[in-house]
Amino acid sequence: MESYDNRPIGVFDSGLGGLTAVTYMADLLPDENFVYFGDTARTPYGSKSIETIQRFSAQISDFLAENGAKIIVIACNTVSATCLELLRARHPGIPVVGMIMPAAEYMVRECAADSKVGVIGTKVTIESSQYEKAIRKCGGKFDVKSKACPLFVPVIEEGINDDAVIKSIIRYYLDDFLRENDIDTLVLGCTHYPMLEKVIREMYSQLTIINPSMIVAQEVKKYLWRHNMLALENQNRSAFYAS
Ligand code: DGL
Repeated sequence: MESYDNRPIGVFDSGLGGLTAVTYMADLLPDENFVYFGDTARTPYGSKSIETIQRFSAQISDFLAENGAKIIVIACNTVSATCLELLRARHPGIPVVGMIMPAAEYMVRECAADSKVGVIGTKVTIESSQYEKAIRKCGGKFDVKSKACPLFVPVIEEGINDDAVIKSIIRYYLDDFLRENDIDTLVLGCTHYPMLEKVIREMYSQLTIINPSMIVAQEVKKYLWRHNMLALENQNRSAFYAS
């Protein structure tokens, strides 16, 4: 018997980045409502201690649960890398989806065995090696190199859209990294980075770019469908909060 669940999808990030995932989810799931929290006042998370990130994430996930979220999407790679198990234990009645495992499964399905994959993300995400671990866990054997790009998030959160500034920061982090490691596939391992995707594509047109914000949207759709948790119709009750 089919059933429906009109409660909202809870989504959070350290700031604006998670909206890249919400955009894809809203496209794929037009009947769903969202409750979103962006922790703009305390961004960036990617250079904070794991204890601090865990404390912030617990607070925000509680807020989403109190607001009736039927599922919590951690639309932040930094939080996914450090808090996934903690949040699952904290909210046993609510499924919690992170960014990294769905992206790793996708890569293992889609990337050629001789791919040279580069993962970019925040310091915390890269230091955690969670992408490499997830790829290996899914059986991926290809070469994976990673690089932290700590200036990308502040540039996006500041709303800087001067092309020359953005390009020089991208060049600073990526030129040598891509060349020295012969990278052909680049994973945007931070939900803010899809906001730079167009420029990165223009600058390095040879790259295949993998966008986990899009992949997590597909994962959420699959999960809700399998568990009879899709909404019946959009009730225009989405709410977007920022600190
Ligand atoms: N958007 C986040 C991520 O996916 C974190 C950005 C930050 O606050 O450092 O990692």
